[in-house]
Amino acid sequence: MIGQKPCQRQSGIEQLKLTSFRCYDALTLLLNTELPPVVLTGHNGAGKTNILEAVSYLVPGRGLRSARLADVAKRNSGNDCFPENVKTLPARWAVSACVRTAVGTVHIGTGRCDTSEKRQIRINGQPAKNQSELGDYLSSVWLTPAMDRLFCGDPAARRRFLDRLVQAFNPSHATISADYNYALKQWGNLLREGRGDPMWLTGLEETIVSSGVAIAAARRDVVSRISVFLGQKKEVPFPTASITLHGLLEDLLETMPALDVEEIFKEKLQKMRHLFAEGGSVPGPHTSDFTVRHEEKGIDAGLCSTGEQKALLISIILAQTKAQMQEKGQSPILLLDEISAHLDVERREALFELLCALPSQVWMTGTEESVFKSLSTKAQFFNIENAAISLSNVA
Ligand SMILES: Nc1ncnc2c1ncn2[C@@H]1O[C@H](COP(=O)(O)OP(=O)(O)O)[C@@H](O)[C@H]1O
Ligand SMILES: [Mg+2]
Repeated sequence: MIGQKPCQRQSGIEQLKLTSFRCYDALTLLLNTELPPVVLTGHNGAGKTNILEAVSYLVPGRGLRSARLADVAKRNSGNDCFPENVKTLPARWAVSACVRTAVGTVHIGTGRCDTSEKRQIRINGQPAKNQSELGDYLSSVWLTPAMDRLFCGDPAARRRFLDRLVQAFNPSHATISADYNYALKQWGNLLREGRGDPMWLTGLEETIVSSGVAIAAARRDVVSRISVFLGQKKEVPFPTASITLHGLLEDLLETMPALDVEEIFKEKLQKMRHLFAEGGSVPGPHTSDFTVRHEEKGIDAGLCSTGEQKALLISIILAQTKAQMQEKGQSPILLLDEISAHLDVERREALFELLCALPSQVWMTGTEESVFKSLSTKAQFFNIENAAISLSNVA
């Protein structure tokens, strides 16, 4: 019996089906979008994160683990190989979902059915032209245990986190980023191999410049939108995060229009051809740094405890959700893997309350069901054991 009157939700997954996905041969999960938090519990290795990863493929981008598509397909137990008779076939997998959106129910199917690294996507049975189309219906942001020390490690991981926030706002960001990375890689390969035909290089530089400036502008835009909500006084036990972004293009965009920045970047790339060919590096959105500061403590996030860092990430995600709701009237699906790890009871309970008040479908995982007890009348619980899932009645 549901104890609290549910409020109308705008979007959420009503049915999720996995086929040959990670540890799952086949799985169907039916969800109640009027009771939006979804809690998945089970032992280590039961298959919880795999379900969140499956959900992450319903939005543009490379998924929660940024995995190679072939690695996602279910492997035989006991070894890393596919059976002899299918070794020559591509490693296929699929995720499909019925999604309730502001414009009605939408059927999304995605997966791998050939040997390419390009994800196939169907929306209401029709092939999508590109991944960005998914963003018209759904967006998602996530926190995973791998992000627990995000502020101490590789800046690339922080950029990925920021880009995920940007993609939730701006569905074409994933495609533009893919274009940028592809052109930059091609350009670098041509120069290093000494095959730098000037026309070819110029064509690639045009793509690098236009997509690079678009990436930097989109990141700046989202950082400033989120900052508005981060700056608002909060009555909850989460720290105020101040976020900043620095990089060649982001800094130039601070002082001049995008067209002028494009000109400067183009000239820089042309001048750097020689240097790059000799093994140098070129600055761009792939070298920008996204930094976070704990305002109340007045220190950089990298110096905070693991729990404080996690609380900062939560503050950012909550602000992102509010900003997106205000701007687009659509709130992202939140995927919060091992959410209670490193959080004290006070923060954990405050977070659950905040999550229940959001118009988002929130997916949470944990090993202990008891941790989520206060959500017993507000969330739908599933227990996973050895890749088998069952609805759980938490009293
Ligand atoms: N491609 C794959 N084929 C089969 N099993 C996989 C594949 N990828 C990962 N697994 C297995 O799926 C299991 C569940 O993983 P995961 O969902 O991450 O567990 P957890 O419940 O701890 O989050 C793990 O035992 C992992 O080895
Ligand atoms: Mg896990």
